[in-house]
Amino acid sequence: MAEELHIAKGDKNEKYSLLYKQIEAVIESENDLIANMANISSMIQSTFNFLWTGFYRVIDEELVLGPFQGPLACSRIKYGRGVCGTAWKEKRTQVVPDVDKFPGHIACSSSSRSEIVVPVIKEGNVTAVLDIDSECLETFDNTDRYWLEKIAGILDK
Ligand code: SME
Repeated sequence: MAEELHIAKGDKNEKYSLLYKQIEAVIESENDLIANMANISSMIQSTFNFLWTGFYRVIDEELVLGPFQGPLACSRIKYGRGVCGTAWKEKRTQVVPDVDKFPGHIACSSSSRSEIVVPVIKEGNVTAVLDIDSECLETFDNTDRYWLEKIAGILDK
């Protein structure tokens, strides 16, 4: 069992490693933020097939829905609200093993069970968040956090 877990974890790390290289290659020659967010959402979804992967951008003191892959989502989220607004307020990644246990979680889809939200930080300010939802409990761990923070870091230029 321990070995199975180890293999599964290693596999995820390898997938992220390849994904990161693909993302670097794709956005190297493109400076448009929306184009890059769209392609990053697509590449993450193609690799992991999560329920929902996308970005919200900070516009006029709110998070506004940006490029995403997956079902319909809420268009705007206020500062400090939900998992996304909390990542913005606290300027740090939120790993939520069970969304029902996160006070104030905003349920865009009733199928969502766990979630990770990573802030995109530019010169000390959160400019966007990368949000991923899973249909399974406890999907995200430190491996996801590590790689998704690295991916979000590409967008701070
Ligand atoms: N669950 C998020 C809202 C965004 S959707 O998951 C796409 C939240 O609590 O902020």
